[in-house]
Amino acid sequence: MNNAADKRLIIVSNRLPISLRKDQGRWLADPSAGGLVTALAPVLRNRGGVWIGWPGVPDLDRARSVLDAATRGVGYTLVPVNLTAEDLEQYYYGFSNEIIWPLFHSLQSLCNYDPAYWTAYQRVNANFAKTVFEHARADDYLWVNDYQLMTLAQELRALGCKVPLSFFLHIPFPPPDIFHKLPWRRQILESLLHFDLVGFQTQRHKRNFVHCVRSMFRDVRLYGKGPVSVARLNGREVRIGYFPIGIDYQSFARGAMSPEVDAESRNLKFALRNRTLILGIDRLDYTKGIPYKLDAMRDTLIRFPELRDKVSFIQVVVPSRREIPKYDELKMEIEQLVGEINGKFAEPGWVPIQYIFRSLSRTELLAYYRTAEIALITPLDDGMNLVAKEYCACSVDGNNVLILSEFAGAASQLRRGALLVNPYNREGVADAVYQAYKMDLQERSERMRRLKRNIQHNDVFRWVSSFLHAGIEQDLADFPQYEMDSEAYEEEFWGELV
Ligand code: UDP
Ligand code: G6P
Repeated sequence: MNNAADKRLIIVSNRLPISLRKDQGRWLADPSAGGLVTALAPVLRNRGGVWIGWPGVPDLDRARSVLDAATRGVGYTLVPVNLTAEDLEQYYYGFSNEIIWPLFHSLQSLCNYDPAYWTAYQRVNANFAKTVFEHARADDYLWVNDYQLMTLAQELRALGCKVPLSFFLHIPFPPPDIFHKLPWRRQILESLLHFDLVGFQTQRHKRNFVHCVRSMFRDVRLYGKGPVSVARLNGREVRIGYFPIGIDYQSFARGAMSPEVDAESRNLKFALRNRTLILGIDRLDYTKGIPYKLDAMRDTLIRFPELRDKVSFIQVVVPSRREIPKYDELKMEIEQLVGEINGKFAEPGWVPIQYIFRSLSRTELLAYYRTAEIALITPLDDGMNLVAKEYCACSVDGNNVLILSEFAGAASQLRRGALLVNPYNREGVADAVYQAYKMDLQERSERMRRLKRNIQHNDVFRWVSSFLHAGIEQDLADFPQYEMDSEAYEEEFWGELV
């Protein structure tokens, strides 16, 4: 058997790294938003391979030539999977984003359990399987990503696919009390157990999955210690592990020091008249806790009036899933809150909250990261949260503080350098903003040094090699252990809460 490094990598995800859209009659190809693409794109750029997924528009035929043009020069092959308008409605917006997304982020009251969605989900997974099966060779490494494709292995096996199959879930896996609400819970678990390796972001998510499997399959046997365990069921073995995802550290750290970013950062500082910049960057998503964050900022300005006119809060919201009513309602709620807060506190020459609703270019993104003295990242639940890691990687002078939700997967890894907060605790978040504002340069740079070291060491390439290794190496005994606080921390952390 080839070792992991020699194999051709086939990435399968719902969305390709390039999304097509039509603007005023013209087709455009944009980089896709979100952490999955940011993490996997440098990996394929680095080692080549194939990426199979949906190119962002229904009924691809009309736009195939645009995709072909965008594909030239990326350094790997893109294979599109077509979704019809109905697939999009029921499989993508429906099952994936109105059931699994809220449920897995423990927001079960937002789920819409329409049985038609489940039928469509299985149908689309079967269609994906056909495309994957056509392209897969016997010695490929086949890596399926995320919650939109949880029944893919079962469909591939039904087609006779013998290639080892690995799956990684980029979002949280909920505890049994929540997962059990899913009407198709047994089918989803059974399907996931058709993979040879199932990976999660944190030990907590892995443990939740194991508890769900145990609660539903009495004859399952689980063994192994450390990040990867083995489940035996119906004569099969499935590896179950946690692999905290990283970023392409060097590309962020070097990019932040580039002349373009340097110039953009100076412009920004000048425009802010050297006020302390507090930064939030989130996809438009209710899991990101943006309204709670705005409430906390209002509380900060009320309880710590010395910060008025001294700080500027820039909240970037990257457009996402606008066709789902909840997302559009969220946009309106954010805009109303921003208006209210600015209406109350703005003074001539100072607006407390600047709100940006669009995707940023790479130079803009890195300049915001580099310039912000404080990042305020407060998701209600998140698989990892790459923005937190990217922010630290872009710190050039060390004069930066990361305020991070304890419910982001990244919290277990970054807790020693970041200020951890409960995003639901408005006063606690406001206190952390004040603490960050007052923190002296020495403490800021010590914390940042620690964060950067950790993020640099556990970068995306290490993540990939540990995942590939766990998928095909026979012996798990010498499996690399993470040099992170996670294992001890997760026990300790949840035990510590009051
Ligand atoms: N990002 C983006 N477009 C932007 C701003 C940010 O694609 O205009 C990227 C950002 O660099 C990060 C990703 O979006 O890599 C967000 O990933 P994260 O894990 O924080 O959250 P997700 O969106 O996956 O839930
Ligand atoms: C998160 C998910 C990805 C998803 C991305 C953007 O990062 O983990 O699977 O692709 O959000 O969401 P979208 O629905 O636009 O693909």
